[in-house]
Amino acid sequence: MQADDTLPRDGQSILELAARSMFDLFANASEGMLLVDREARVVWINDQYRRFLPALGFERESDFVGQPVAEVVHNTQMHQVLRTGKPILIDLLTNRAGTFVVSRIPLRDPSGEVIGALGIVLFDHPETTLQPLITKFARLQRDLDDARRELASQRRHKHTLASFVGGSAAAVEVKRQARRAALSSSPVLLLGETGTGKELLAHAIHAASARSSGPLVSVNIAAVPDTLLEAEFFGVAPGAFTGADRKGRDGKFKLADGGTLFLDEIGDMPQSLQPKLLRALQEGEIEQLGSNKVVAFDARVIAATSRDLASLVREGKFREDLYYRLNVLPIRVPPLRERRADIAALIEVLAEDMALRSGTPPPDVSADAIALLSAQTWRGNTRELRNVLEQAAMRADSHHIGVDELRQVLGESGVEQIEPAVAASTAESPSLPVAGDALRPLADQVAQVERRAIDAAMAATRGNKVAAARLLGISRAKLYERLEEMSKYQTYV
Ligand SMILES: Nc1ncnc2c1ncn2[C@@H]1O[C@H](COP(=O)(O)OP(=O)(O)OP(=O)(O)O)[C@@H](O)[C@H]1O
Ligand SMILES: [Mg+2]
Repeated sequence: MQADDTLPRDGQSILELAARSMFDLFANASEGMLLVDREARVVWINDQYRRFLPALGFERESDFVGQPVAEVVHNTQMHQVLRTGKPILIDLLTNRAGTFVVSRIPLRDPSGEVIGALGIVLFDHPETTLQPLITKFARLQRDLDDARRELASQRRHKHTLASFVGGSAAAVEVKRQARRAALSSSPVLLLGETGTGKELLAHAIHAASARSSGPLVSVNIAAVPDTLLEAEFFGVAPGAFTGADRKGRDGKFKLADGGTLFLDEIGDMPQSLQPKLLRALQEGEIEQLGSNKVVAFDARVIAATSRDLASLVREGKFREDLYYRLNVLPIRVPPLRERRADIAALIEVLAEDMALRSGTPPPDVSADAIALLSAQTWRGNTRELRNVLEQAAMRADSHHIGVDELRQVLGESGVEQIEPAVAASTAESPSLPVAGDALRPLADQVAQVERRAIDAAMAATRGNKVAAARLLGISRAKLYERLEEMSKYQTYV
């Protein structure tokens, strides 16, 4: 009976009473409360909240109240509550004052419009009160950070235009053209001798282009047997073949969707496949092997070759229409002998890279050794320069590379035109092993002979790998494999 006298009877009043009770409950049980207005300014804090002020960096309440909440409470989400009108019933907030379990509730006027928000610190030190949850949260956060780091390192570009070393007029011009090509989405054709940096430039153009967040997919046409190239390019439809490809597989065009397709050694494209490649480039569509369904792809094409594509066209070995399709933005990559001024800088970069790989200090190349290197014709360009440096470094007793080691290595390579000033000292037979050499492991010596033969064949054919492979009596793929090894590993001394 007594309750009837004290409790209001209408629903609205009961609700108001309940709301006040709940508010008092939260105000007493929570670790602090804060109120913001529609503009997200702090308008009120309760007594408990006041003790967080020093940790948040405020001495006086008057420095805190009246300020925009985002400026005084780092990582606050009160704006979001004001914007969406939706409460965030439970959340973790971490800032300089610590980690807190918080709740954020929008405040509405009688018409339902959001006029402010209430922030409640439910617990502080959740690391003790919510230990299992926090541990799990921390572990998930750590896993996420690891995954993000991994992804970022995978996406980091292998080469940018800054990795193309050289300040000579010719190098600067190449970089200018590459930068311009990156702004466009037309096909790029990189023409230049072996080892001039065509692959490096293809990576750099992709990295500088609007597609840099997409994939860069390379096909080395010379390294893939003709019979497999079609499947490599266009993919295989499920069920087209029995065996490994039964489930079907995407081709490089499809894999490059949204990014760049790098067609390396395009001059080696078999004639039988040229019409199909042309069609794909013209139509922007491909047909998987064993399927008659046409699929659109969106990839920017960069092609490269060390062969004289124009004369291949004249000889009828490369389709003229395909040539024009690819030759929209041609970039001629100059050989090293046309930019000798870059050789000293290249030596420095290559030496540092060698050091990084071997974990030793970079070799110190003497001034006369640099002069000797700068005088060479470098038919194999940067790749050949690197090989010579690596061999000289292995030959040197200390980490100092002088002219003596270099003359020996250059003489043995059998292809370099050494300047008269240094030629006299290499008069000893360049192709026979010097005395101590015969006592090295046979595998090393065989590898060295192989390397010389490959160098000589590449020089004789001016970098034409098909012709060089024929001269050596090995397959293109094999030659390619060897050249790759020669540029990557120091296996030839
Ligand atoms: N200007 C340069 N600055 C720094 N490194 C270079 C430069 N040019 C070439 N290189 C390096 O030389 C090596 C050969 O370069 P790359 O593979 O790009 O040559 P390429 O023109 O594609 O040769 P190929 O026709 O034989 O395939 C690579 O290790 C590359 O990083
Ligand atoms: Mg290449």
